[in-house]
Amino acid sequence: MLSWQLWCTSLFVLWICFLWTRRKLYSLMLKIPGPIGYPLIGIVHKIRHKEDVLPVLKHYLDKYGSFVLSWLGPMPFLIVADPLLTQDVLNSPHCVNKGSFYKVVEEAAGLGLFSMKEPHWSAYRKLFNPAFSHKMILSFIPIFNSEAAFLLKTVDKSVDCGGQNLKSLMEGFSLSIASQTIMGGDVKYFEHIRSNNLIKAFHGIVKSITDMGLSPWLISETMRKLLGKEEQFSKAKSQISGFLVKFIDSKLTKGSKAPEDDILINLGIDMMNRGMLTKEDLQSQLGIILFAAFETSANTVVYTLMLLAMFPEYQEKAFQELLSLFPNPGDFDVTYADTQNMGYMDLILNESMRLLAPVPIVARQTMQDVRLSNGIVIPKGVQIGIDIFHLHRDKKIWGENAEAFNPENFLPHNMQDKHPYSFIPFTKGIRNCIGWRYALVSIKLTLAKLLRNYKFSTNFKFEDLDFIENLTLGLKTVPLLEIQRRDC
Ligand code: HEM
Repeated sequence: MLSWQLWCTSLFVLWICFLWTRRKLYSLMLKIPGPIGYPLIGIVHKIRHKEDVLPVLKHYLDKYGSFVLSWLGPMPFLIVADPLLTQDVLNSPHCVNKGSFYKVVEEAAGLGLFSMKEPHWSAYRKLFNPAFSHKMILSFIPIFNSEAAFLLKTVDKSVDCGGQNLKSLMEGFSLSIASQTIMGGDVKYFEHIRSNNLIKAFHGIVKSITDMGLSPWLISETMRKLLGKEEQFSKAKSQISGFLVKFIDSKLTKGSKAPEDDILINLGIDMMNRGMLTKEDLQSQLGIILFAAFETSANTVVYTLMLLAMFPEYQEKAFQELLSLFPNPGDFDVTYADTQNMGYMDLILNESMRLLAPVPIVARQTMQDVRLSNGIVIPKGVQIGIDIFHLHRDKKIWGENAEAFNPENFLPHNMQDKHPYSFIPFTKGIRNCIGWRYALVSIKLTLAKLLRNYKFSTNFKFEDLDFIENLTLGLKTVPLLEIQRRDC
């Protein structure tokens, strides 16, 4: 009988032979450092929980540098946290598709812009682009303002009431503006939007996506049923699709498009009428774009308030800037021009998205062999994870204090020598975030109204934050914030 050592050695030799048969991969292994892990499973055993993802990546980046090759099961997986190589990947027409992890997103949430592959992705992206144009963003500003006025009234009830978790309040607010700007103003009369049920359903889907990502056998419905995971998943799915179907049907019945011609749902309905989309396709497109919009924006507002509560000296500087733009407290309308005149707020928001990258990792898969600037050719079919979280915290780029909060990192003289791909919260290149301009305007407007009217404080220490990769960046514990009114 073989001893277990002999058994492992044989498996290892078989593994090397298997890799050797795939010559290009074998030669890649010789050129790029990284942990090979165990035969057939690679480093999968190191990532059992979503809490493990970021610490494991940090460990390997610290050990091997910012370009690491490893294996997730039998799949080769590159981790990239180097600005130049990130630029190569994000601008290569052969790296437009996302990795196989996004099959999980597709299984859980349907096929949407977020997970589509070429050649369909570029066609749909072109068709959806007008919904995020400058003209459309300007037309959304009254919605941002009126929803933020409603938000202020709600926040006002929490003044001097002890520590508050603002996450679900901000999620409700962001979902409401996202749905009105993507699906039309009349969506606000649907009770799903004001109730928390839709948000809970989105969270249910994200949980299923992360569960499936960590335990791929859960992609099978039978396995989900056997392991008792199906009920929660299908309930969340049907709640979201129930809402979307009801809303699309009400839009179809009304017929008229004006006055919001280019909002996304109308572009989608046009595509349906031209036979390019089914109603089910439109549903998944809308669902995924709503999620991409609301969760990232809500987290960014909450995390920025949290950082300013932890570092009050910067909150005071932001307040002084807002005081000069909006001398009177209470509700006021913020114009597009105002959002462009918030120089200090820009520094704060950038620094917040640098330290707490709202989307910590994005993935790609090579569609053909791709030559990078360092001369290395990545063969077709390799998964690539761009680790934005650690790229944004790299001491070689951001200095010894890379992990500290300092908005002045973004002063022009501190940025001038940095590679343009050192800071990529929305990524850049061919498949960046379609809503990045929208996000910046809506987030600045919201922060302006909140920070002009309230002072936020907390006892929670920055060093005690624990991060979770949850598609978006999650916190193990969301710090409670105390809120005081600014009366002048
Ligand atoms: C702070 C706010 C936001 C951040 C940090 C953010 C970040 C990102 C990132 C990193 C990606 C992946 C890009 C890639 O794979 O290279 C992405 C994709 C996407 N985002 Fe955003 N996003 C934000 C807000 C929004 C908003 C407000 C919308 C819509 C109104 C939106 C819609 C989308 C869509 C549809 C995609 C998929 C694009 C595609 O694959 O073509 N995002 N976002």
